[in-house]
Amino acid sequence: MRVLVVGAGGREHALVSVISASPLCLEVHAAPGNPGIALVGKCHPIKVDDIAGQVALARSLAVDLVVVGPEVPLVLGLADELRAAGIRVFGPSAAAAHVEGSKAFTKELLEAAGVDTATAFTVTTLDEAHDAIAKLGGRCVVKADGLAAGKGVVICDDAAEAEQAAQELLDGALGEAGTTLVIEERMEGPELSVLALCHGEAAVPLPSARDYKRIGEGGTGPNTGGMGAISPAPGVSDEEAQQIVETVHKPILRELVRRGIPFSGCLYAGLMLTATGPRVLEFNVRFGDPETEAVLPRLGEDLLPFLMACADGTLQDGRLRTIPGAAVAVALASRGYPASSESGTPINGVSEAGSQRDVAVFHAGTAIVDGRLVTAGGRVLAVTARGADGAAAQAAAYAAAAKIAFDGMQLRRDIGSDAQG
Ligand code: AMP
Ligand code: GLY
Repeated sequence: MRVLVVGAGGREHALVSVISASPLCLEVHAAPGNPGIALVGKCHPIKVDDIAGQVALARSLAVDLVVVGPEVPLVLGLADELRAAGIRVFGPSAAAAHVEGSKAFTKELLEAAGVDTATAFTVTTLDEAHDAIAKLGGRCVVKADGLAAGKGVVICDDAAEAEQAAQELLDGALGEAGTTLVIEERMEGPELSVLALCHGEAAVPLPSARDYKRIGEGGTGPNTGGMGAISPAPGVSDEEAQQIVETVHKPILRELVRRGIPFSGCLYAGLMLTATGPRVLEFNVRFGDPETEAVLPRLGEDLLPFLMACADGTLQDGRLRTIPGAAVAVALASRGYPASSESGTPINGVSEAGSQRDVAVFHAGTAIVDGRLVTAGGRVLAVTARGADGAAAQAAAYAAAAKIAFDGMQLRRDIGSDAQG
């Protein structure tokens, strides 16, 4: 089989790695890909939001399957265009991708499906925002409705903070994404990501994970794209993750089928483990990043037939074999991240780090300039290691990360521990 992976990050590098290791795979391509992916497959310089360009590439390569990494092309209808062109695709239609594209839609869907989530109000004016904040008692979370690359969520301690956040978003701080807001109850507890491969009403859970979103140790400082992940999430058994697929994913899948917008692809539920049980924070319609870098190295069987079954619509409920133990992925970020990032800084030690057993180094923001590997973005690399348990995986991931160096390199030292994400 020939497979094309759309995207350029650590998630796509992890996907390309497992797909290229499949005995079913003859050739793997990526668009646009990155220098790490280029070691395993062929990269093509087509942007992820160039829908016509991606479809033309898939057609000219005569690929048997396209796997879409990021949400933007999905929301723009890449999967629909590929299906219309008769090309198999792993990823939802634009209509089903609305589950990630609009928080207001998701809230309404959760309610209709009877899935537990924070009480929320959808508002479009400052007056309505004021009322919602008052009803929630001031301490709440203010969210831009549309896609905002992780910048659209403000966690507020009191009414004054919430009013200010609502005003800034409604005044256009994030453009169109903030013309509608979701204001919701602030929940407390550790977070958990449960991803499942889905088609129609069928779901196959992936191992659970926890993502560490803040830049600083102990869950401090601004939000990032994710500074690392551990799988399984500490304290969450495989049975509990399976149970979450039954009580969260399945009702959502059934509700989407009932509405005539069946989901196909990876449905990612972000949950908070509150005192009253798991409650949904958000959905994503794709693999998580950096969760994927910790989850995929734990698979004990070939992922490709499952991706194909989703694309063909033949997926059945089931389970994937996993490698016992744990995996930890540590993100290495460039100076200034997340506010800014540095490019062009030489990176040393990647092959030394990646040559160790049970270690993989996934590229995210890297480039080759004059034959040298350099930084080219905020999150530069993700170093993943497997171990017999979380502590062993953590020690191995940090030992490997210690072999890599570039000027201004930032990493969190507590990825995989029980610290706040
Ligand atoms: P979201 O993009 O909706 O997942 O929000 C990003 C992050 O904000 C989540 O991973 C949580 O850490 C935090 N968050 C979102 N909603 C809530 C909530 N209702 N209560 C507490 N924290 C939240
Ligand atoms: N790890 C968070 C995300 O992929 O959205």
